[in-house]
Amino acid sequence: MRRVLVTGVTGFAGSHLVDYMLERGDCEIVGIQRWRSRTENIEHFADRITLLECDLRDASSTRDTLEKVRPDWIFHLAAQSFVPTSWSAPTESLSTNIIGQVNLFEAVRRLGLECRIQLACSSEEYGLVLPDELPIRETNPLRPLSPYAVSKVGQDLLGYQYWMSWKLDCVRTRGFNHEGPRRGPVFVASDFAKQIADIEKGRKAPVISVGNLDARRDFTDVRDMVRAYWLALEKCEPGEVYNICTGAAWTIRKVLDHLLSLTKTKIEVRQDPARLRPSDVPVLIGDSTKFVKATGWKPTIPFEQTLRDMLEYWRAR
Ligand code: GDD
Repeated sequence: MRRVLVTGVTGFAGSHLVDYMLERGDCEIVGIQRWRSRTENIEHFADRITLLECDLRDASSTRDTLEKVRPDWIFHLAAQSFVPTSWSAPTESLSTNIIGQVNLFEAVRRLGLECRIQLACSSEEYGLVLPDELPIRETNPLRPLSPYAVSKVGQDLLGYQYWMSWKLDCVRTRGFNHEGPRRGPVFVASDFAKQIADIEKGRKAPVISVGNLDARRDFTDVRDMVRAYWLALEKCEPGEVYNICTGAAWTIRKVLDHLLSLTKTKIEVRQDPARLRPSDVPVLIGDSTKFVKATGWKPTIPFEQTLRDMLEYWRAR
């Protein structure tokens, strides 16, 4: 049976990936988590996988863990993933994302492990995209607009470099935005859905705070995204990079309007200047032809359904 290691298992994508793999039932799953990580996303499967404590920022703890687990596949999802945090804590974002990955790579390399590694890179790396560059292909220039985006460029290019230098078998996936139940409450769709649920319960005045509603993003349901991660390791070429996206965009205004159409409560919309970013990525619409050709992947869950599921998730909490 294939042994799979998931970094960032307690997170949003990590927990959905484990759900997907448990349903497949064809691999042994080991998840690593940092000491005192929140465990609410993994309680429903905690007794069906092996959980180990390991902080990727610590090279020797990472090496010890990898030596113990000796995985066949690694899904590397652990990261500081919220863009605004990277402006308030740039060093932490850069070190968690870049140094954490270097420690993982060095452990695999020095132990001589033969494993495939999926790297969760990001559409944020493209940053400022010109109108005639849409939809974005993997060959587009990278013009990152936040320390977070720079950290993802670092992770992405380290994947390329370790493949070229050491033949470390990495597949780089540039995931565009993905949403769904369990999404952290700071990300846009989850933030809006949670505010609506709080207002419905009378826990908050009927005013929803928003940031830049003009930005456009290419949204995939997280359950389709984690299936894509699996296919990346099953079918994609080492050293290569692949966009994972739908090819269609929603403005953030449309996301908000759709969520508001799902509630009977009357809610006022108010822009909060604190939610505006020093530089926001205006538009991300991707071209996933390369990935689809390699894997046959197709997203199956319409974004309207994703938003409904997110609102239900917050209503139930
Ligand atoms: N979070 C948030 N809160 N974003 C808002 C709000 C708000 O109240 N109002 C408008 N926005 C806009 C942001 O300015 C941004 O343009 C867009 O909504 C999406 O913001 P996020 O949901 O925070 O995601 P992101 O696009 O910055 O980054 C996400 O996607 C990347 C892939 O493209 C994250 O998941 C990253 O980790 C991921 O790499």
